[in-house]
Amino acid sequence: MIPPPENPLVVAIDVSDLGRAESLARAVGPAAGMVKVGLELFSAHGPASVARIRKIAPVFLDLKLHDIPTTVERAARNAARLGVAMLTVHALGGEAMVAAAVRGVRQGSEEAGHAAPGVLAVTVLSSLSGESLASPASLAFEAKAAGAAGTVVSGEDVAVVREVTGEEFCLVVPGIRPAGSNGHDQLRVLTPEEALDAGADYLVIGRPITGSIDPAATAKSILATIR
Ligand code: C5P
Repeated sequence: MIPPPENPLVVAIDVSDLGRAESLARAVGPAAGMVKVGLELFSAHGPASVARIRKIAPVFLDLKLHDIPTTVERAARNAARLGVAMLTVHALGGEAMVAAAVRGVRQGSEEAGHAAPGVLAVTVLSSLSGESLASPASLAFEAKAAGAAGTVVSGEDVAVVREVTGEEFCLVVPGIRPAGSNGHDQLRVLTPEEALDAGADYLVIGRPITGSIDPAATAKSILATIR
């Protein structure tokens, strides 16, 4: 069994302004295991955003890559050259694509002299619901077979995904809301404690922290509820 991370809190800094992203990262960094750079910040500032944020905290680069294997391999190689701790791809891209991402990050990190980031396969977005979605458990199983380090999975699917992937697989759960807070566009939400009890290794929390009056204090108080 892999030991649980020292700090399971990943704070999503979903903003478009790099200065604001840096000040948020500085505020929440001391309470966070990683900060998440996603499509909003990356499409505004690209690799420079990672270069700046990684000086403050380890970066979880959430690009949710989904394309033909060759393109994903090259993009993953480029992303790994930036020095990130985790990189996401879509599990729906298939086993060959996830395996290509794993090859890409190994190559890129080696070339740049960084530790290789874990490739995480996103199963089903927590803003979706419905019966027509692909099974998170089968997507996660395939991603593991392809060499992924873990998966991004909604809280309600953690237990079943853990069952098929075993203990040595990193489960990252977004759509987390401290008790009593706004669910925003997340349909399937759990509290931090519920998600960890269900088997999550990392929790991704964005707006409840970044939209609060005092992000540093909010991140700290959330961390206190789970430690
Ligand atoms: O602000 P909030 O806490 O809802 O942020 C959730 C973050 O997690 C967003 O950055 C979103 O991209 C991400 N995410 C998600 N569901 C997934 C994968 C990632 O909500 N399955």
